[in-house]
This record gives sequence, C-alpha cells and structure tokens, in this order.
Amino acid sequence: MPIPIPSLIPYPNQLDLLTGHFPWSSQINIQAAPPLAAEIDTFLAALPENLRPKTTNPAADQILHVEIAVLNADHYQMEISPLKIHLQAGSLTSLFHGMQTLRQLIDSAALNQAGGTTLAIPCLRISDHPRFAWRGFMLDEGRHFHGMKTVKYLLDWMAYFKLNIFHWHLTEDQGWRIEIRQYPNLTKIGAKRRGSQTGGLLGRKLDRTPHVGFYTQAEIREIVNYAAQRHIAVIPEIEIPGHSLAALAAYPELGCTGAHYQVTPYWGIHQDIYCAGKPGTLQFLENVLGEVLEIFPAPYVHIGGDEAPKQRWRRCPECKNRAAALGLQNMHQLQTHMTNQIGNFLKRNDRQIIGWNEMLDGSLDPNAVVQYWVGKEKTLINHTRQGRKAILSQWSTYYLDHTYAHSALDKVYQFEPIFANLEPQFHTNILGIEAPLWTEYVPTQARLDWQTFPRLLAFAESAWLQPQHKDYNFFEHRLQRLLPILDAAGVGYAPLEAANPSPLARMGGPLSLIQAVKGERGV
Ligand code: ACM
Ligand code: ZN
Repeated sequence: MPIPIPSLIPYPNQLDLLTGHFPWSSQINIQAAPPLAAEIDTFLAALPENLRPKTTNPAADQILHVEIAVLNADHYQMEISPLKIHLQAGSLTSLFHGMQTLRQLIDSAALNQAGGTTLAIPCLRISDHPRFAWRGFMLDEGRHFHGMKTVKYLLDWMAYFKLNIFHWHLTEDQGWRIEIRQYPNLTKIGAKRRGSQTGGLLGRKLDRTPHVGFYTQAEIREIVNYAAQRHIAVIPEIEIPGHSLAALAAYPELGCTGAHYQVTPYWGIHQDIYCAGKPGTLQFLENVLGEVLEIFPAPYVHIGGDEAPKQRWRRCPECKNRAAALGLQNMHQLQTHMTNQIGNFLKRNDRQIIGWNEMLDGSLDPNAVVQYWVGKEKTLINHTRQGRKAILSQWSTYYLDHTYAHSALDKVYQFEPIFANLEPQFHTNILGIEAPLWTEYVPTQARLDWQTFPRLLAFAESAWLQPQHKDYNFFEHRLQRLLPILDAAGVGYAPLEAANPSPLARMGGPLSLIQAVKGERGV
C-alpha cells in the first residue's frame, strides 16, 4: 500500500516521510511526566472514544512518549516509528501544537480506515515551528451576537489549525456585548437594537426583528479558560473613540451633544463618538477597562481607534477647549492624545495597547501596537522601520466577510502579507497576521461557516508555514482529503468550486463585494 502524503494543515515546516507505520489504538501506552497531565487530557478528550488510550497501559508494545525538551519555546519535534511516537517540545504551547499535528494524523487515518480500531499512522520525522507568533482570528459580535456555543466551536477549530489569538470585537454602534458591573445600562440598553439594516450597503430598509445579546463576566471567564486550555489568548476589543453609539445610548453624557442617541440598526460609520473633552469620558473608559482587565489576562487590549469622524468634536466646546489647552493642531491629534491616555492606563496595569491603523500619528506612543487593515502602506512601513510592532489584516485579502469572488481561497492562500518593500531587518516588527470576520451580513451560523471555511485554513497555513514551503496545489490536495473531517463535524463550508470561482465571476469581485456580502444577510 503506498503511503499517502499526510493531510496536515498547516503543513509542518519540515517533514520527512519514513517507511512503515505506527499502529494507533486505544491499547497503546502513554508516557508523560505528571506536569503534562492536563495537556494529555485535552488531547485525549478530543479523540474519538474508540481510539482513546488509557493514560497508562504499561503492557503495550506501542508507546506515545511526550516530553518537554531543550528546544526553542515555539518548536516541537515528532518522530513516528513502528513502535514509538516520540513528541518533544520546547514549551507546553508547542507541545499542544505537536499534539494537534498528531490529532490530524489520527483523524486522517480514521477517515481512510473507516471504523477501524487500529489505525496505520505513517512513520515520519517532523521538526516544526510557526512563521508568525501572532496567528489571529477576529469575531465581530457587535453587529451580530453569536453566543457561547459558536465561540467555543470557533476556538476548537482555531486550535486544530494552530491559530493562537482570538480577537473578540465586543462593542459597536449596533450593540454592547460585555457586562460591566459599574455601568449596567451598557447591557440593559446597549445590548439591544430594534432591527437590522437590509438591502445592501446603502440600504435604508430595516428588518424589524430586535437583536439582543451580551456575555456576563462569568461567561467571559469560561471562554477565556476554554481558550487557554487550547493555548489561545483572548484579546478583547473595546472601541474608542468611534463605533461607540451603543455606549452613548446607555450613557448619553459621554457624547458631545449629550442626547438623542440610539443603538443603531444601521451599519456604516456614525458621527457620534465619545466626547474627548468631557472629563467624565476618560474616567468612564478607565472604569470599563478596569473591569475588562480583571477578566482578560492577556497582555494586550485592543481599543479600536478606526473610523472615528471628527465632526462632533470640531463643534463641541469641550473638545475644542481640550484641544486648545493641549496646543493641538487638529482633532486627529486629540484622538492621539486620548489613545495615549488609554495606553498609559493600560501600561500602568501591565498591559499593552493595540489599535487599528487609523490611530497612527507622529505623537502616538511608540509602544502602541498597530493592526493594519487599509490605507497608506507607506505610513505603516515607516512606523515599522522605526520599531513599531504591527499585525497585518489586509482588507483586500484577509477580511472573511468578503465574497469568494473578491477573496478566493487560492488568492488568500497565495497572498504574501509582508510588504515587498519592507526591508528584512524590520520583519521582526511584524508580530503576525489576523483574519477578521465582520458580521453585518453574518447573522447565522450557516453564513458564518460559509464565510470562514475553508478560507481560515488557507490563512492558518499562511500564518504557520514559511512562504518558500507554500504551494497552493499541494494545499488544495490536502484540503480535499481533510474536508470530510469538517463534513463529519457539520461545518457548512464553501465547497471548492464556490471558494475558487471562475475567472469571469472574479472579474465581478469588487462589485460582488458590495452586492452579495453587503446585500444578503442570510444563507
Ligand atoms: C475596520 O475594518 N474598520 C477595522
Ligand atoms: Zn466633545
């Protein structure tokens, strides 16, 4: 029987196939030091019951030997021979990633040998570590609340494909989704809207179905723990100063005009943002963030910073006074000042600020991490050359809310995120890449699945595998053999013919971006 190429995604950076196979069954013996017990439990719990070994089975000839070794923290090595699987890793996290590789080998073998209770795992040698330290996925729950079950489901798939950052977009014009004890109206008022915009990007029609939902702090702790078990850090995003209408509806005194705000059913960019001149705004934001820091242990907090129009600030006496007192030239600098104040608050609490690239400015704290999505590459590149750390989420490719006509699977796969004109000595300032799923037109699990899968797999491989090892045809070959695993789990992914539309359909990509994605809400 010829040995098939292992259907691994992401593919390991170094893999040598050897002859022979290891017979995996529930009868093998697992050797691991006691401090690794929790990791082994997580690994075993994810296996089908009939293929799940007892942790000690000393009479068995076959052994899975797992250990922490003297390797770089993000490296793992695995050698599979007929009697032994030897997994070594430099840390618990890379051990987890090595075990995901093993899980995929077991799952693929189980598919090939349906119903078998002894599986032939190919003998091989792997030496592997990720290209990027930041391998992120972002879920917008401001536009549509999806809930605990969906978030856990996404975290499970993220872990399977070795993604390690869950960026949780929790506050928006259309909804505030996180309980804050000091400000109950944020969820009492801010978590509910009367309907949702339909009929395309510029549509003014509403469906009249109220949309409501938020996470209690206890639920958030549960998600953070669930993610931590899978070696995924959860980064909350609290939008400042824009995309904040839901907060203003709850506490109108935080806006420049102070009245007549509502949690909006309309998408897009809204003029009303937090007032930067009123002293109460900073206090409010620090109180909110204080509670956020209690429940999110990650070293980073995302403060948004995108799409913050300045019309209200230009007419607001308090904003104008504040800008004048600070000697600022324009209202963009007032946003920078506000961002630096929040950044300093986070720094005092041992956390680091992240924001979208609109926040970039000469006087922005050099320690602020920028997440690039659109706009002047040159500005970003200059900041990166000066040492600023960046995360890349190019709108043109990595936005999962776009149609496949616009962002086809092969295009996502083949995209090289690091700018060609950024000199290699600055590449270490690129922490990594992140794929955002904005949910204006993602109200259901079916739509979420379609937009996310299989593109997230192409993205995950780009985050892990060095570019010189990437090959789309090889990826597609492995994907086709791995899709039955998604089928078995009921994932409603876009099939390959839809994920890679015809050249003609792609020519309509820019148009379909607006018509199909921005026009259709459901599947
Ligand atoms: C964004 O898409 N407004 C970051
Ligand atoms: Zn103001």
